[in-house]
Amino acid sequence: MRIAVLMGGISREREISLRSGRRIVEALRKMGHQVDGIDVRVEVIYNLSELRHYDVLFNILHGTFGEDGRMQAILDMVGVPYTGSGVETSVIAFDKYLCNLFVSDIAVVPNFVLTTRENAHEVVETFQLPCVVKPRSEGSSIGTHICFDRDELREAVENELRNYKFLLVQDYVKGQEVTVSIIDIDGRPTVLPILELRPKKLFYDYEAKYTDGLTDFVIPAELSETVTKTVEDTALRIYKKLGCKHFARIDGIVKDGIFHFLEVNTLPGMTELSDLPMSARAYGMSFEELVDNIAREAYA
Ligand code: DAL
Ligand code: MG
Repeated sequence: MRIAVLMGGISREREISLRSGRRIVEALRKMGHQVDGIDVRVEVIYNLSELRHYDVLFNILHGTFGEDGRMQAILDMVGVPYTGSGVETSVIAFDKYLCNLFVSDIAVVPNFVLTTRENAHEVVETFQLPCVVKPRSEGSSIGTHICFDRDELREAVENELRNYKFLLVQDYVKGQEVTVSIIDIDGRPTVLPILELRPKKLFYDYEAKYTDGLTDFVIPAELSETVTKTVEDTALRIYKKLGCKHFARIDGIVKDGIFHFLEVNTLPGMTELSDLPMSARAYGMSFEELVDNIAREAYA
């Protein structure tokens, strides 16, 4: 197939997207495809018709404008099949506030409050500690803080409100950090082995995610058979309810055998340290087979 890998972009996850993208280009070439890697900047948007020369667009633009539905709307207009979920799914999944509401009938969602300049003071003075501050729509844990006292909370909220209009302040759940990768195989969502993350830092933050040696990976996750099954079922129901396509990764914390939902990533990382490729490998699928499968699912 002729495939364009759309990477880079303008989000704060740009560098990660370039790392994912370069690796995908190489792997798809090994699988015999004719591949161009395209760093998506405004020039590309201007020359959209060029994208019509490809059979599939492999979108791996993490974060704002790549993963949040806006790029998907543009690609719908181009009219060439692209990898990953469509507009509506992407919009909901990338918005942690909407997504929490959307999945709350399926999974336990830690208590959260949408925070803006208007209610920041009240939230800072009253929200139960410890808690987590995170941007409403962001990836790779950028802008995420765990706060153990009011001063930390105040500082985190004040700082992040300079960068983001909306934040989520949420209960901090201490437990096993797990992530469930799901890929479509022959059109059927298939749950890959659950991965447990044991960061050497306080949590699986940007540095722990992308620096070799800062996180220990346990696969399959150290969970009982019953809990494993429940976590897999929950993740699959979320994937289906949202209408995810081709691949996605659902993150959460398991505490006392209960899965606490954190988020859905509709264009998950594909770097050499990323989770979904690790789960695919444990399933018996090489990185080359994985990206080839995703491209074929999009083309089918
Ligand atoms: N947002 C990053 C790329 C991930 O979910 O892996
Ligand atoms: Mg994410």
